[in-house]
Amino acid sequence: MSFHFIPKVLHEVLGLLVLPVIIVHCFWNWKAFKSSLRGNLKKKLSAIIDIILLLCMVIIISTGICISNHLFNGMIDIKFQRNIIIHQLHVSVPFLFMILAGIHLGLHWQGMWQRIKNIFKLNTSKISYKIVTRLTVAMLIVIGIYGSFLDRVGDRLLMQHIFATDATQLPFAEFIFIMISIFSIYTVIGFILDRYL
Ligand code: HEM
Ligand code: HEM
Repeated sequence: MSFHFIPKVLHEVLGLLVLPVIIVHCFWNWKAFKSSLRGNLKKKLSAIIDIILLLCMVIIISTGICISNHLFNGMIDIKFQRNIIIHQLHVSVPFLFMILAGIHLGLHWQGMWQRIKNIFKLNTSKISYKIVTRLTVAMLIVIGIYGSFLDRVGDRLLMQHIFATDATQLPFAEFIFIMISIFSIYTVIGFILDRYL
C-alpha cells in the first residue's frame, strides 16, 4: 500500500512476496476453513470473507503483473499493460482487501489474543490495562475515520482515478499510522460482529 513511498521495483517485489505468505497462511488454516464452511452463521460469514479475500489477492497480484513497469516489463502484451480497467482494479481492490482483512482479523481476534496472553503471561484484568486499551482503540478509530477522508478511501473503492491524496503527501511514518488506523476500524467491526453473532 506504500507505493508512493518506496522504490517502484521494491513495491513489485514485496507485492509478489505477499503471495507465498498468503499460501502458507491458507495452508495452515485449511482445516479451520473447511469446518467454517459447515458451521453456524458466524463461521459461514467468516468462510465467505476468506474466499473474497483470496479472490481480491488473486486480482491484485495478477493485475500488478499485467501493469508491471519493472519485473515483468516487456513480457506482458501492451494491450494489458495499458488497460485502464486493469490499472483501476489494481489500485482499488487493495482497499477492499484492507477493509475485509480488518474484519477477518477482528473475527479471529479473541482466539488470537487469548493465545498471545497465554504465551506472554499477560495480566489483562487490571483496570489500568482496560483504560489504556479503550483509549487506544478510540484514538485509532478517530484517526482512522479522519484518515479515510484524507486518503479518499470511498473514492478509491468507487474506482475513481486518483493520482495522489493528502495522505500520500504525508511523511511515510504518518501515512503508515493512518493506514493502520483505517485497518483498525474494520478490526473493531469484525470484533463486534464476532461478539454479537
Ligand atoms: C499485495 C500486493 C499488492 C498490493 C496491495 C498493491 C497495491 C498497490 C496500490 C494501492 C497502488 C496504487 C497506489 C496509489 O496510487 O495510491 C499500486 C500501484 C502499482 N502497483 Fe501494486 N500492489 C501489489 C502488488 C503489485 C505487484 C505484484 C506488481 C507488479 C509486479 C505491482 C505493480 C504496481 C504498479 C505498476 C503500480 C502503478 C499503477 C498505476 O500507475 O496505475 N503491484 N499497487
Ligand atoms: C488472502 C487473504 C487471506 C485469506 C484467504 C485468509 C484465510 C484464512 C482462513 C481460511 C483462516 C481460518 C479460519 C477461517 O475460516 O476464517 C484464517 C485465520 C486467520 N487469519 Fe487469515 N486470511 C487472509 C489474510 C489475513 C490477514 C491479512 C490477516 C491479518 C491481518 C489474517 C489473520 C488471521 C488470523 C489472526 C486468523 C486466526 C488464526 C488462528 O486462530 O489460528 N488473515 N485466515
